[in-house]
Amino acid sequence: MRKSFFAATMLATGLFAATGARAEPDNFTEVERGRQLSVAGDCMGCHIGPDGKSLSGGHMLETPFGNISVPNITPDNETGIGRWSAADFDKAMRQGIAPGGMHLYPAFPYTAFAKMSRQDTDAIYAYLRAQDAVRNPVNRDTLPFPFNIRMAMIGWNMLNFTPGEFKPDPNKSAEYNRGAFLVEGPAHCGLCHTPRNFMGGDKSGAHLEGGDLQGWFAPDITANNRVGLGSWSIAEIVEYLKTGSNDRSAASGPMAEVVQYSTSQMPEADLRAIATYLKERGASNAPAPQPVAATDDRMKRGAAIYDDTCAACHAGNGQGAPGIFPRLANNQNILQADPTAILRVVLQGAQAVGTDAKPTTPAMPSLGWRLNDQQVADVATYIRNSWGNAAPAVTADQAKAMRERTDGVAMFEGIRGGH
Ligand code: HEC
Ligand code: HEC
Ligand code: HEC
Repeated sequence: MRKSFFAATMLATGLFAATGARAEPDNFTEVERGRQLSVAGDCMGCHIGPDGKSLSGGHMLETPFGNISVPNITPDNETGIGRWSAADFDKAMRQGIAPGGMHLYPAFPYTAFAKMSRQDTDAIYAYLRAQDAVRNPVNRDTLPFPFNIRMAMIGWNMLNFTPGEFKPDPNKSAEYNRGAFLVEGPAHCGLCHTPRNFMGGDKSGAHLEGGDLQGWFAPDITANNRVGLGSWSIAEIVEYLKTGSNDRSAASGPMAEVVQYSTSQMPEADLRAIATYLKERGASNAPAPQPVAATDDRMKRGAAIYDDTCAACHAGNGQGAPGIFPRLANNQNILQADPTAILRVVLQGAQAVGTDAKPTTPAMPSLGWRLNDQQVADVATYIRNSWGNAAPAVTADQAKAMRERTDGVAMFEGIRGGH
């Protein structure tokens, strides 16, 4: 769906400059490069407009500090960035400062985009200029006091932002360096996969080790064998990013949006580069916990609920059914110290994203109506500590908090849910 959208816009507008004149071949190459960087940067994932196809914005992005509106970045003069120069655009993308000195919030991943070069942001600018101007006024002042004070971002940047273009490591392969550029730069994987400090900046020393975001959990994607991608092959990582699932796991929630708008549209060589970088850059050293004993009451109650409610799909031995029901044994989503992902799935259900490669996907039913908080906690404790799994027990209070958070929220409403 998304691919055909891009194909259509490329045909409709990509060959023409903003003036309507046919673009020069050189400019076409730059526009195409800009399109690829926009895909890697998932601009559509956040800036998608009410029409479902332009970058005219208007969504609210949920953050711990309140909701931030996503602006219109089509070339509309009044409501978009039509009056911006390439230099204005570059300053926003790489320094987080809009014309007039307005400091942008880091929910906009300029801290990662800063790894791009001026040539890169110029290419994105050329691509954006080649799109239709769409009128869609967006109210930018949505945060409550004191977070609405944009000047505070000056201090935030001093503490949390390291500007500077990406520098390749001469001791590593070209593929590794390409992956490093994408992950740390345009594709901003750390925005979700790195835990946040109390200011919402990257927690130091924990890069890509897993972060929670508004009721979802983005797991450890370092090369850790137990909780990260250490036991995933390059081919498995590529398949997940390209199609939204593999035999180990399926992307739902915010990651489903990343796959839909960004990684499934990226060239396979780039996905391999990303996988190579993630496998080679090192592993987190999360200590392995002792499993909760099978004789523990929580485990006994959990086992009974599992057999009754889950085993029909995920199998009694937690192996699932390849391609249909994810396996729960040695499943990294389940082994994270933070149980957010499991609680969300059991209470709300889940459906993996459909992609060109895998258009239809099986769904996990919501079981929140069937199980009370203690039962949800017990079955979660059970799957985290069976079949070789080991992870901290889950409490009824944790289940209750997730129930309150997801109550009345539609299954697919992720962090980019409301208008
Ligand atoms: C994770 C969500 C997210 C992604 C991905 C994202 N943006 Fe944004 N962007 C935002 C938000 C939120 C703001 C507004 C920040 C503020 O108000 O301080 C913003 C602001 C901007 C602005 C400033 C506009 C203005 O009027 O002030 C530009 C330019 C921009 N984004 C371009 C892009 C481009 C190009 C991409 C893709 C390469 C992109 N963004 C990807 C969320 C995102
Ligand atoms: C908007 C937030 C967000 C961004 C950006 C993001 N992810 Fe994710 N990612 C998630 C969430 C949330 C999950 C868990 C999905 C689930 O539970 O279904 C996830 C899951 C994954 C998984 C599966 C891990 C497992 O153990 O099952 C991989 C691999 C992954 N992401 C890689 C990436 C890469 C590579 C990037 C950058 C190209 C990226 N992600 C960017 C939020 C994000
Ligand atoms: C009708 C079949 C069915 C039943 C019953 C079922 N599940 Fe699932 N489950 C699925 C499917 C399908 C998925 C994959 C959803 C997706 O695509 O995101 C899934 C996903 C999951 C995940 C996320 C795995 C991952 O890698 O992201 C967990 C955890 C899970 N189920 C636990 C349970 C538990 C616990 C129960 C019982 C309380 C249960 N399931 C009952 C079908 C089922």
